[in-house]
Amino acid sequence: MFNIEEFDLKLETSFIGRNFIYIEEINSTNEYLMTESENLGNGTVILSEFQIDGKGRLNRKWLSNKNQNLTFSILLNKKLDKININHINLSASLAVANSIENLFQLKTDLKWPNDILVKNKKLSGILLESTFNNSKLEKLVIGIGVNVNQTKFEGEYKVKPTSLKFEVKKEISRERLLNEILNNFEANIIELKTNSKRILNDWRDKCRMIGEHITIHSNDKIIHGIFYDIDANGFMIIKIGDQLEKITSGDISLK
Ligand code: BTN
Repeated sequence: MFNIEEFDLKLETSFIGRNFIYIEEINSTNEYLMTESENLGNGTVILSEFQIDGKGRLNRKWLSNKNQNLTFSILLNKKLDKININHINLSASLAVANSIENLFQLKTDLKWPNDILVKNKKLSGILLESTFNNSKLEKLVIGIGVNVNQTKFEGEYKVKPTSLKFEVKKEISRERLLNEILNNFEANIIELKTNSKRILNDWRDKCRMIGEHITIHSNDKIIHGIFYDIDANGFMIIKIGDQLEKITSGDISLK
């Protein structure tokens, strides 16, 4: 069982997670915040022990055993006018990666746009969903799945999964990990306002695919090239021959 008091003890945020919803079972925590956001405050976090229909990127499913992992979503629905969604995406993956490195001294690797890998296996994935009203961003839901104490993975995975327990060989406190992720995420999104360069540079430092030959599956196209960089907006820049091309979405793998 997730212990909310223990979680609260080291939550140092001013708004992220201050409204905290804990639920045994739900379709998807992202779906919940997307439909209920009007009645919920900025920074609301919902954590579910099990998702009946957990959603992954590109219409995939997110599979996660009951009571073992972290499957949660964060709602942002205020002061969104100057927000760059890609920056939030990178801030979230950086928050997860830094939390894991700080708490467990595990080296993480970021895969564009927002997977967190350990030893080339997937430890965590992030799904951002948003709504716009007259091209104005109305709400943003950041859904995060972290494989924590699950050690057996059945089913089909595009990238082989791993978990913290599998890597560090001991039971992990989900409470401590969640408050650390939320603390880091809030610090990152506050810093974005004045210093998005720091977030982008830290992200680059953890993305060991930069400079490598990669293959991208993007909108039914397969593209080969060198992962050149991410631009100031967090899009991927790929070098194909002498040309630089911007990639806004897709799945990448080493060639
Ligand atoms: C991916 O790597 O494909 C993204 C996975 C995102 C999974 C999380 S779990 C909590 C939140 N609710 C969902 O339905 N999906 C996200």
